Amino acid sequence: MKNSHLIITIDGPAAAGKGTLSRRLAERYGLRHLDTGLTYRATAKALLDRGLPLDDEDLAVEVALNLDLSGLDRSVLAQHGVGEAASTVAVMPKVRRALVEAQRAFAKRPPGTVLDGRDIGTVVCPDARVKFYVTASPEIRAQRRYREIINQGGTAELPAILADLEKRDARDAGRADSPLRPADDAHMIDTSDQGIEEAFETAKSIIDAALAAD
Ligand code: DC
Repeated sequence: MKNSHLIITIDGPAAAGKGTLSRRLAERYGLRHLDTGLTYRATAKALLDRGLPLDDEDLAVEVALNLDLSGLDRSVLAQHGVGEAASTVAVMPKVRRALVEAQRAFAKRPPGTVLDGRDIGTVVCPDARVKFYVTASPEIRAQRRYREIINQGGTAELPAILADLEKRDARDAGRADSPLRPADDAHMIDTSDQGIEEAFETAKSIIDAALAAD
């Protein structure tokens, strides 16, 4: 067995369905869940809230080192501007090192963890028992984001959302340190044409087969 307890990683671009899938899998297998995007968002928001620059690496590291991973709440970190700022902060290697260390410590605690993000299968937990890379076309992801905002009573423009997503994909996949990419041993799940239920069933059969083989 690769791990004394189960670690499942889910990587992929923004709005691909990683969050919902991770939560469902964590619930199904009785594991803890860590949305690592929130660690970058919380670091960025703390800088924004204090009016500090986003490009001072030493300042950002100091903030990252003081994060409490158990208290992260997507509802206060969901703002579009926070996501953009998070993607900017996430290019800095020293910030990544601090957050990756905290993410690994979280993942190690029993009974096991589902982690979702951009570099989990490649960098944070390369020995994870099962890895997934969840994706969907930019158009489908933009539509999902658009519907989410409208359903919450907000206003949005679909072309602007699509342009933002593509810009964020390019920044996340193009950075030198830990770029967004599937691990060589990741199972690919494309949610363009399947609902979350179908993606969940696919992921579940892959995990069950892996556990049966242990
Ligand atoms: O998944 P999200 O939108 O909450 O992530 C916000 C940003 O954080 C994302 O654009 C890039 C960064 N991120 C990262 O670099 N590595 C991770 N493991 C998770 C997120």
